[in-house]
Amino acid sequence: MEHLSGKVAFITGGGSGIGRAAALDLAAQGVHVVVADIDRDRAMGVADEASWRGTDCIGMELDVNDQEAFETARDVMLRRLGHVDIVMNNVGIVSAGLPEQIPVEEWERCMSTNLLSMVRSNSVFLPLLLEQGSGHIVNTASAAGLFAYAYERTPYSVSKAAVVALSEALALYLHPRNIGVTCLCPGPVATNIHQHVTFSGAPIRMRPPMKGMNLIDPASVGAMVVDAIRNNTFLVLTHPELHDILVRRANDPEQFLADETKAIEEA
Ligand SMILES: NC(=O)c1ccc[n+]([C@@H]2O[C@H](COP(=O)([O-])OP(=O)(O)OC[C@H]3O[C@@H](n4cnc5c(N)ncnc54)[C@H](O)[C@@H]3O)[C@@H](O)[C@H]2O)c1
Repeated sequence: MEHLSGKVAFITGGGSGIGRAAALDLAAQGVHVVVADIDRDRAMGVADEASWRGTDCIGMELDVNDQEAFETARDVMLRRLGHVDIVMNNVGIVSAGLPEQIPVEEWERCMSTNLLSMVRSNSVFLPLLLEQGSGHIVNTASAAGLFAYAYERTPYSVSKAAVVALSEALALYLHPRNIGVTCLCPGPVATNIHQHVTFSGAPIRMRPPMKGMNLIDPASVGAMVVDAIRNNTFLVLTHPELHDILVRRANDPEQFLADETKAIEEA
């Protein structure tokens, strides 16, 4: 999607962090943006900020666990902005704890919010993109979905690995139908994500994907999202080190796991 001006984007979790940065950057490119977030004030605030860039931006309260809320969002969008071109499924929450201590209900909440939210979104927005024969979907996964570097947030990692698999399957289906797919895999980004961590069981320490990996600014990730939509890039790794880690794992999965285990045990 080379020319973004006049396009319409829908972003979940757009009220903060990476979603906010993408909303502001897309608006700066002339995109009308719907900022959806469970936090209504944040959604309205970001929509307001985005609209200073000269496009029509709408904030709305939406819980990605609610199928009907997606249907209402679609109806509001079509009524107010006429169509939809870009859908960024970006909400993520973290469920943390030792694997045997995280209750099933917490697993379900995490999978519903991080993964099934995208299934809900697809059921509502994909028919529109298919009918118009164009569009772009951005799914926010995580480095945690690409390789194992920690065991204390298993539901999060599993949900994000599933987002990678979902995105790859969607790309197979949608690329021949002129719809782009981006799977955004951030390493550490300075956002409010710590506000959405639920701990179960014994106290644990959260481990970063790689010692010394830089905490980057969400604004730089917003710019990566815009580039990926423009260039129809599938996999976006926010940190170049992530590529090297993936190569290391592909070359020798046994050694990779042994090295990660040793690093965790010695930390
Ligand atoms: N920050 C990081 O280091 C990092 C790393 C890898 C992946 N990610 C992923 O990036 C995405 C964005 O996270 P962020 O870091 O910008 O965090 P953030 O907390 O700054 O933003 C997330 C937004 O999602 C909203 N939200 C939470 N639950 C919701 C729900 N049920 N329905 C609608 N909105 C909801 C929050 O209100 C918040 O505004 C997430 O999927 C996260 O897993 C972040």
